Amino acid sequence: MSLQEILQRAYQDNWATGHFNISTLEQMRVICRVCQELKSPAIIGTSEGERKYIGLLEAVAMRDALRREFNIPIFINADHSKSVESAKAAVDAGYDSIHIDLSAESFDDNVKGTAEVVEYAKHKSKISVEGELGYLRGESKIQKEKIEVRPEDLTRPEEARAFCHRTGVDRFAPVVGNIHGISLEEPALDIDRVKAIRHLLPESVTLVLHGGSGIPAEQMRSAIKAGIANIHVNTDLRVAFAGGLREALEAHPDEIASYKLFPEAEEVMAKVIEQKLKLFGSVNRL
Ligand code: 13P
Repeated sequence: MSLQEILQRAYQDNWATGHFNISTLEQMRVICRVCQELKSPAIIGTSEGERKYIGLLEAVAMRDALRREFNIPIFINADHSKSVESAKAAVDAGYDSIHIDLSAESFDDNVKGTAEVVEYAKHKSKISVEGELGYLRGESKIQKEKIEVRPEDLTRPEEARAFCHRTGVDRFAPVVGNIHGISLEEPALDIDRVKAIRHLLPESVTLVLHGGSGIPAEQMRSAIKAGIANIHVNTDLRVAFAGGLREALEAHPDEIASYKLFPEAEEVMAKVIEQKLKLFGSVNRL
């Protein structure tokens, strides 16, 4: 099953796939393990920083090894590629999916660069490409200050339609009240905007929600009902892994073997992944 087929099924049947960011083998493996247990596809993301740390070739090799070990659909996405060159490098390395994020550029430059990546990726079959439009604030951390999403940050439905038609993307990431990271105040997703965008996009394009950490479950369910088919989660997993590791280090101050310390962090992370997959309705989908 290709990523595109899975996302289409999720959209048509009103559930969402999780997209989980990682920066180590341990984290990638725990996602695959939980997905296998719950019979869910596994979509793994690496931002530019995360994949610079792991290495593009290493990330792809780990995916290949994990596919053999777990025997479930596992896809790796080059999350938030901020330039055409960085997106092309991930295509060349063997990524399954590219998120080209030129949302900081003008509409026309965003369209031009995104279309170039779509063209490049389509030479290699089955590579799914995601584009983004709007101003997504924040980064994947616990925010110490209030982040205000302004009306002008939000994606305009008509522009979303034009963007998808002109670029030929498979997935589209809008800004609909979401931010990266866990916000100080409860976020308020603009569900009507999700619906309006969904209504105007071709059926073949699936909608992606970034900034999936710290959003109350009820809002998540409404977003999925409105047409979101893929939800990116990073900060919640970072908090879980780092917290588990800190506890392990404090509980066993004399332990120096990494392989005895990491499993505690993995278990805390596994619980969060499980919660998310259940919330997104991604369980028993294989
Ligand atoms: P969070 O860090 O808010 O979960 O966002 C992750 C994300 O959108 C990665 O693309």
